[in-house]
Amino acid sequence: MSENILVIDEGTTSTRAVLFAASGEALGSCQRPLTQHYPAPGLVEHDAEEIWNLTLECAREMVAKAGGADQIAGIGITNQRETVVFWDARTGKPLAPAIVWQDRRTADRCLALRERGEEPVVQAKTGLLLDPYFSGSKIGWALANWPQLAEAGAHLRVGTIESYLVFRLTGGVHISDASNASRTALMAIGSGGWDDGLTDLFGVPREILPEITDCSGELGNTAAELFGSPIPITGMAGDQQAATIGQGCFDIGQTKATFGTGAFVLTQTGTTLRQSKHRLLSTVLYQIKGERHYALEGSVFVAGSLVQWLRDDLGLIGSAAETEPLARSVPDNGGVYLVPALSGLGAPHWQPNARGMIAGLSFSAKKAHIARAALEAMAHQIHDLKTAFAADGADWAALRIDGGMVANDWMAQDLADILDIDVERPAFIETTALGAAMLAAVGAGLYLSLEAATAMRGGVTRFQPAMPDTDRQTRLTGWGDALSRVLAPPS
Ligand code: G3P
Repeated sequence: MSENILVIDEGTTSTRAVLFAASGEALGSCQRPLTQHYPAPGLVEHDAEEIWNLTLECAREMVAKAGGADQIAGIGITNQRETVVFWDARTGKPLAPAIVWQDRRTADRCLALRERGEEPVVQAKTGLLLDPYFSGSKIGWALANWPQLAEAGAHLRVGTIESYLVFRLTGGVHISDASNASRTALMAIGSGGWDDGLTDLFGVPREILPEITDCSGELGNTAAELFGSPIPITGMAGDQQAATIGQGCFDIGQTKATFGTGAFVLTQTGTTLRQSKHRLLSTVLYQIKGERHYALEGSVFVAGSLVQWLRDDLGLIGSAAETEPLARSVPDNGGVYLVPALSGLGAPHWQPNARGMIAGLSFSAKKAHIARAALEAMAHQIHDLKTAFAADGADWAALRIDGGMVANDWMAQDLADILDIDVERPAFIETTALGAAMLAAVGAGLYLSLEAATAMRGGVTRFQPAMPDTDRQTRLTGWGDALSRVLAPPS
């Protein structure tokens, strides 16, 4: 019996395929950058055909590495969430640009719904808030503004990225797993189905939506012509849920933070759905055999993308890795604070129209201070989330971190210092892919449960708080001052 798992990890800025052994060892990977389209301020789009082509290219490379399709027990898919794709069922070809999770085009619509008093109902049903981040308002906008979607009639299909990839991989299966579906604001997360009140609210006909499935099990088979012979798809989850699984957060209260394009903190809350009173989200962590586990989530929109912006748009640094020696080259931030509201602010503020700021500049401010302020902003944003989680009665005893940015030791230590708790970093920081591999391994029968599949995880490095309390307070006060200038006054 073949024991390899192929993971497709379709993120915001790149598409990847990773080949895992059943032991959890990564045997190979293939990564391709994805073109970002910014047609106007606040708009972010992807080309779903490019996503599909890059996915297929990378998956084929890993199938060849495995020695053929029959050497792969199952495929796990994980993906940037909330991004929506519109396609024609006859061809599988996209009918319009994919609207990316960062896109703010429905900010006014969401505000209008909020002012109409719709938010409490949306939150009670979905665990989410009225923000352009989620898919529902994006789909409603597209249907109202892109006539080609109506012209496709009964052939129109809509879904998030995993749904589109499964459709193309299988040649026509239209499904979405419960973790991804829970990010659309169209699913009632307590019952696990699409909700008529919500589809009406956002103007989304139910028949264009996929069927909601488990995150692990027999989800479909790839079309034979793609890889030589069919491969079963046995795992599927949104990337942040997959990372939570890859971090082994199976006990209630265990928490992870992934620093990718954005930073996303999820705390396992078990099979009980908990509603936040402090503007966090409730979300499906995974669903297996119809049983849903939930998480509380804090979503921060700008993390790695800030460093990318310093590099690619400001030209302040030549590579992301330069931020660590730059941060270390100065004794402190010199009073410089950076509020990275480059695409509005997510949790716990939810202000889509907020804009970024660098505060505290003087002639003594150097490039190093700005680079340091950018890294410090990560700990500051996560500290704001920790305060909200604590107020919701779900404070963190420790934090498990992952994602590309956490290779930066300075940043990992700064997180421990500002949060004042232990921070753990796994040796293998691509936990999103690992979590998808764990789901797929369980779905393929290689492990009996996700808990058993934690055998696929490796060791960790621990960072312990070492900052004097007065320094921590100075930092938090400086951040609070800068943030207050970015936040709109409460209406
Ligand atoms: O909700 C958006 C999230 O899934 C994006 O993840 O890894 O592309 O930053 P990432």
